[in-house]
Amino acid sequence: MNTSTHFNLTARVLHWLMAAMILAMLFIGVGMVASISQRPWLIDLHRPLGIAILLLVIVRLGNRLRHAPPPLPADLPAWQAFAAKASHWVLYGLMFAMPLLGWATVSAAGYPVTMFAGFQLPPIAPHDPTLYAWLRDAHGWLARVLFATVLLHLSAALYHAWVRRDGVFQAMARGGRGGGEA
Ligand code: HEM
Repeated sequence: MNTSTHFNLTARVLHWLMAAMILAMLFIGVGMVASISQRPWLIDLHRPLGIAILLLVIVRLGNRLRHAPPPLPADLPAWQAFAAKASHWVLYGLMFAMPLLGWATVSAAGYPVTMFAGFQLPPIAPHDPTLYAWLRDAHGWLARVLFATVLLHLSAALYHAWVRRDGVFQAMARGGRGGGEA
């Protein structure tokens, strides 16, 4: 059981960095579907940024499994503690699923999975129009689920910061005293 009151430095850096990257990806994704003229540069950004999220979430999950998070306040209603834990695992699942589905979508479309000029990833799905349609839909629907979960997560974080003022938000916002968990 973790006795520290704050997330470790790796967890905090990855949390805020990935929060910005994921929000950017949701808007880049919607932008490239909505605008034909902006689509080329947006999709050129979407692919490598998405794969960067995939690499970072591997590091993040490893850190999370090796370092237990600080405990939730003892007086938090059980349903809120359950919702917090469940939503965190949903977010982890989506951080893996979204880039993998995007990568598989481009593969099934038969397009090169270009990261930057001269560097491509191998396909991870066969070139198949039916599979492409299924993966493309799944990527779009899970993006909506991700957006909704991020909004719930943000609302809960602000509830802890401004209403309960119970230290849950500060656990991710800054390090603890004494430098132990930096
Ligand atoms: C965390 C990672 C990712 C997020 C949050 C994300 C988000 C989105 C969103 C919001 C859309 C628009 C969906 C719609 O309106 O139906 C989209 C579309 C798309 N994404 Fe991603 N994406 C991610 C990773 C990737 C990756 C890694 C690739 C490819 C390597 C990729 C390829 C695509 C493609 C091909 C489309 C469809 C574009 C179109 O049909 O016009 N995505 N993504």
